[in-house]
Amino acid sequence: MRYFPIFVDLDGHDVLIVGGGEKALQKLRLLAKSTARIRLVAPQFDAGIRELAHAPAVTLIERSFAPSDLHGAVLIFAAADDVAVNSQVALEAKAQGIPHNVVDGPAESTFIMPAIVDRDPVVVAIGTEGSAPVLAREIKAKIEAWLPANFGRVAEGAMALRRRVHEALSDPVARRRVWGALLHGAWRASVLHGETAAAECELERQLAAARSGAERTGSVALIGCGPGDPDLLTLKAQQRLQEADVLVVDRLVNPAILEYARRDAQRIDAGKEPEGPSAAQDEINRILVREALKGQRVARLKGGDAFVFGRAAEEMAAVRAAGIPVEVIPGITAAHACAAGIGLPLTLRQKVRQFAVVTGASADGAFDLDWAALAKPGQGFAIYMGVRSAAHFRDKLIAAGAGPQTAVVIVENGSLASERVIATELGHLGRAIESMEVKGPAIIFVGLDWAAAGLSPPERLERYEPAPASGAKEFERRLAPQS
Ligand SMILES: C[S@@+](CC[C@H](N)C(=O)[O-])C[C@H]1O[C@@H](n2cnc3c(N)ncnc32)[C@H](O)[C@@H]1O
Repeated sequence: MRYFPIFVDLDGHDVLIVGGGEKALQKLRLLAKSTARIRLVAPQFDAGIRELAHAPAVTLIERSFAPSDLHGAVLIFAAADDVAVNSQVALEAKAQGIPHNVVDGPAESTFIMPAIVDRDPVVVAIGTEGSAPVLAREIKAKIEAWLPANFGRVAEGAMALRRRVHEALSDPVARRRVWGALLHGAWRASVLHGETAAAECELERQLAAARSGAERTGSVALIGCGPGDPDLLTLKAQQRLQEADVLVVDRLVNPAILEYARRDAQRIDAGKEPEGPSAAQDEINRILVREALKGQRVARLKGGDAFVFGRAAEEMAAVRAAGIPVEVIPGITAAHACAAGIGLPLTLRQKVRQFAVVTGASADGAFDLDWAALAKPGQGFAIYMGVRSAAHFRDKLIAAGAGPQTAVVIVENGSLASERVIATELGHLGRAIESMEVKGPAIIFVGLDWAAAGLSPPERLERYEPAPASGAKEFERRLAPQS
């Protein structure tokens, strides 16, 4: 992050704009929304600037720029139509150590202007470090559509209540909970609709509930966080993350997802290695119960979906046994995300009539899967946690009648920038994992391929195929995609 975003207090401070044309007018329009005192210097001013200059905070100085104009200014905008003048302003400002922005001159500037969504007092600033202003505009349009035009009322209303809530509730946890209920519930809706009496009623109701301790019991939300890409989080998962007081985080949860949580939420790392000791699970159960009994809203963050090889049942049972409410928020499981990311259908009309998910992990090394069923034509399946046991799957499936040519697709780090996609055949499965150095996490799809669906594989596909043995030593080839 080269440009660090901050909000500067301009209340009653002097800001200088050098320029009298369209560029200066754009800056003036923006700054006129602030409570700064604005000085403009230029030999002449456009009509638009003269119109805005009626405001008492705006002063026009009709002459050429002089270095003494910088005196007392906390920010400077060089917005003249003459680039030489702008460079002179930048040099003087630099010499005096005053932050300055040169219109269309990021190299001469010490700060750049973000795209702004203004819902005063809520202001959203969007920056791309100048790399892609079009992207900033797109993001701005999305945020503008999402934030109602009168959204500022909610923030103003909250500001007006701060003291009252503080005085009514001494416990910070209770206060946080009331704020959550007000800002996400009926109070906010009433404020946005201008229904003052209803908002007041709701406030009283929430304060009374908090005082009586009715909301003291904590809760646990088991949140499926998807395969890694934060864009695959559900809206409900985002909401629960924002509300949580405590985050209990799994190994496979992308740290970028934690950005959706409150910064002051307590974070507990519950990383478990695959096939790790079950004591780790008991410890996690204990943490969930302990934190919820303190009255905290606990978010248990799990990779993919909590109900798919996520040991959610054990955590739910432990939490319920302690009388704590538990909610499960579904997530996108790795197989679904990986398949979607590479355009590989999981079922195919008249060809793949069944799709299963199976695990390649086993605490005691014994797999009691129905190999005959998995080996049948028309059966597709995804192996989770199968990197280490891939060769075992190959042997068992082939022994149960599956063809060695059965299609296999391996997706490692699905949905992340480091994603790899490898195609091979069942007969080469173990060697492919080894030779292509698949370390996981990975999903291994068996019995599914693009050709059967009349689709082409993604361009980034790698293929693994051992070359026919030449002499004693076998070697492998990595082939380009065959589209
Ligand atoms: C303990 S299981 C958890 C599965 C998770 N609950 C889900 O629904 O995706 C861990 C396995 O999920 C798969 N997995 C998780 N994230 C993945 C990703 N981004 N890409 C590929 N496979 C992934 C791997 O097979 C990994 O070994």
